[in-house]
Amino acid sequence: MSATSPLLRPLQVGPLTLKNRIMFPPMTTGYEERDGSISSRSLHFYERLAKGGTAYIVLGDVAPVNTATPTPKLFSDAQIPSFRLLAETLHRYDCKVALQVFHPEYDASVVGDMMRRLGPLVREANAAKEAGNMEEFETKMAERRRLGAELDVLLGHGEDSFVNTATHEQLAAIQQAMADCARRAAEAGIDAIEVHGDRLLGSLCSTILNHRTDCYGGCFENRVRYALETVAAIKKAAPDLMIEYKLPLVTRNADGTLRGKGGLMVEEAVLFAKMLEDAGVHMIQAAQANHTGNMGDTIPPMGTVPYNWTLDEAAQIKNAVSIPVATVGRVISVASGEEILRSGKADIIGYGRSLLADPDIPQKVEKDEPVRECLNCNLGCVDALHNRRYLSCVLNAENGDEETIFIRPGDGKKKVVIAGAGVAGLEAARVAALRDYQVTVYEKTDRIGGQLNLACIPPRKSEILRAVEYYEKLLPALGVEIRLNTPCTAAEMNAADAVIVAVGAHNKTMPIPGADGDNVVSAWDVLSGEKKVSGHCVVVGGGLVGTETAEYLLAQGCKVSAMKRSDRLAGGISATLVSTVLADFEKGGLTQLTKTRIEAVTAEGVQATNLLTEEEVFVPCDWVVMATGAEKNEFSTEGVSVPVFYAGDCSGEQPADIANAIRTGYHVANKI
Ligand SMILES: Cc1cc2nc3c(=O)[nH]c(=O)nc-3n(C[C@H](O)[C@H](O)[C@H](O)COP(=O)(O)O)c2cc1C
Ligand code: SF4
Repeated sequence: MSATSPLLRPLQVGPLTLKNRIMFPPMTTGYEERDGSISSRSLHFYERLAKGGTAYIVLGDVAPVNTATPTPKLFSDAQIPSFRLLAETLHRYDCKVALQVFHPEYDASVVGDMMRRLGPLVREANAAKEAGNMEEFETKMAERRRLGAELDVLLGHGEDSFVNTATHEQLAAIQQAMADCARRAAEAGIDAIEVHGDRLLGSLCSTILNHRTDCYGGCFENRVRYALETVAAIKKAAPDLMIEYKLPLVTRNADGTLRGKGGLMVEEAVLFAKMLEDAGVHMIQAAQANHTGNMGDTIPPMGTVPYNWTLDEAAQIKNAVSIPVATVGRVISVASGEEILRSGKADIIGYGRSLLADPDIPQKVEKDEPVRECLNCNLGCVDALHNRRYLSCVLNAENGDEETIFIRPGDGKKKVVIAGAGVAGLEAARVAALRDYQVTVYEKTDRIGGQLNLACIPPRKSEILRAVEYYEKLLPALGVEIRLNTPCTAAEMNAADAVIVAVGAHNKTMPIPGADGDNVVSAWDVLSGEKKVSGHCVVVGGGLVGTETAEYLLAQGCKVSAMKRSDRLAGGISATLVSTVLADFEKGGLTQLTKTRIEAVTAEGVQATNLLTEEEVFVPCDWVVMATGAEKNEFSTEGVSVPVFYAGDCSGEQPADIANAIRTGYHVANKI
């Protein structure tokens, strides 16, 4: 809260004074140029964070060599000017910037060269096929498969992995590349280097991944040797920079299993932290280690681990050193950040995904305004990167396009009427109100939030309601009037200058025999509690709603079969959550009926076709729960003479997701 918040206290970190305790931790964005230089898109993204008041920004995964992955890279002096422009831009806001210098746990140069050969090989194969040269096509495809198999070995974490086979010369060359990168950063006016203690360094520190028998393997001193040498090399190359170290922690899950591989258990991490301090490191970021193949381990989706689950480890490290310690991971609210700082368990808070959802957190702390809190859904950020697209956030229509997308000043005094208080209508109300328009929202039910009031019901999903709570706090403060239990009439619409229709969608029914039977219910009715089901339920539909409804029913003690035309076992779910959902399915004994098309419902069960064999299948059950998609709601604008715009599920051909609701709500309100 306000100017007395501990989040707003400055922090001295080595040679740097940070103006507050809010840090943007390292995050790959995919915004950079192909060669890894800072693009206009990344420049504007980071500038937006600085404008919002963040004191310290770390650029994630900055490669010191020419890797094939879409991360920033600083391997050549020719790239320095783009980093200089970034530093100069952020300094205008008194924001300090660090590069997280990293090397992957595999031989990045070799892997990079191989990956760069994959694309042309496929193109050549396709060209040969088009020219009718099938022999050439087969040769190229065989070469592609061989290369892919070789890459799998090189990227693996087994005993014969690079971590274990790298020669001292190779390790020295990588260290030199990291030092050179730091030197270039200093020349560019960058303030700090964050040494990425995960990846190659963390793998060498790890008892799990490091099986070496030389001076870099075995005892603790040997395992941390390379990391300490790297710190020394970086300090020598860039003596004036602040040096931060991301110290990866292998933690324990609730069931006692280890979480993460490429790092240290807390007992060794504490000893290592002291060594880092002695080596001249100015700040330590205590963070979860990864290398499990599931990004959800370091970037957990909602409901899978407690908030700020590594804080106790951070506190133990803080007790052992006198340099500042940063904590990161599921710190969502301003209050929890403040609480951590007051408790003395850490000195600065890494708000990662939170700053994607709302880049104005520092400013809002200062002004005591509500923050749009991250949902930890991982749909826009982590999944987007997984799919090799750009970083984005489902709640923030501006992410990655800050240069061109921003809220524009209003066009004089206007009255805007919005029909529907789902997320699309609420976002439209926010944007229209920020444009200084007078906004009234009509909602025919007794609460705002629309479909999110259903989406919050399945296991682990209650956190999604933060999206609704934000508008609940913000809109009254912006002067938006919300009329619940009130449909919007033509007279009310005509009294406004513009109307935004955001009336959402409804569960689609299937035109099959028996779909209107007493034993058939919609997933929406089940989740809302309107219809109670029990016994054996067949959930029809393999999308997000089907997957989550199946999980919900298992949690309610039902026997569940999931019937879908596709062969996806957990459709629509974030990649970071799939293993959790599949484990739930296995524990609950869910039967997967994939590649199966429903044909009819009878009083005894579901008649279907196995799409692989074309055979008929009959599944006896007590209830059939339809999760077969949504259809947009109709809304009459008869007699309305003012301009009408549409947002959210009712606006496009097909209903879509929360990201679409936010984006369409934002954009229509921004163009009135
Ligand atoms: C899209 C995305 C990309 C990330 N990239 C990196 C990275 O390049 N290097 C790194 O050390 N951590 C990376 N992280 C992890 C974050 O730094 C942070 O530890 C994690 O998001 C947990 O913090 P949060 O709950 O505040 O988001 C990334 C996280 C996200 C969401
Ligand atoms: S996409 Fe989801 S998890 Fe990622 S920043 Fe946005 S709200 Fe948070």
